[in-house]
Amino acid sequence: MNVTYDITGKTALVTGANRGIGKAIVEAFIHAGVSKIYLAVRDVASADALLAQYPEQLVAIAVDLAKP
Ligand SMILES: NC(=O)c1ccc[n+]([C@@H]2O[C@H](COP(=O)([O-])OP(=O)(O)OC[C@H]3O[C@@H](n4cnc5c(N)ncnc54)[C@H](OP(=O)(O)O)[C@@H]3O)[C@@H](O)[C@H]2O)c1
Repeated sequence: MNVTYDITGKTALVTGANRGIGKAIVEAFIHAGVSKIYLAVRDVASADALLAQYPEQLVAIAVDLAKP
């Protein structure tokens, strides 16, 4: 079965968005047409390079998932 999803214009929140799989998810969402992505990262400055690339779509927020 081949299932596809249209995420054009959606808003997303991605944890661990500054590197690794999280960063790859952000880039895939951008290319799929997501209009706003909140980058949940421990150190907001660690997302600077991504923010510079896609300033219209991205917002960085400080989130430490170990601190409920
Ligand atoms: N099931 C599978 O087949 C499979 C395959 C690959 C990966 N994984 C898992 O998927 C996860 C991501 O992999 P990855 O390769 O992208 O790892 P990675 O490059 O080490 O990145 C980990 C990310 O998680 C963030 N992070 C760690 N602790 C955090 C916390 N307390 N609050 C908020 N963010 C936190 C890191 O932020 P900082 O930069 O601040 O450290 C970083 O952005 C890992 O848990 C890995 O084990 C599973």
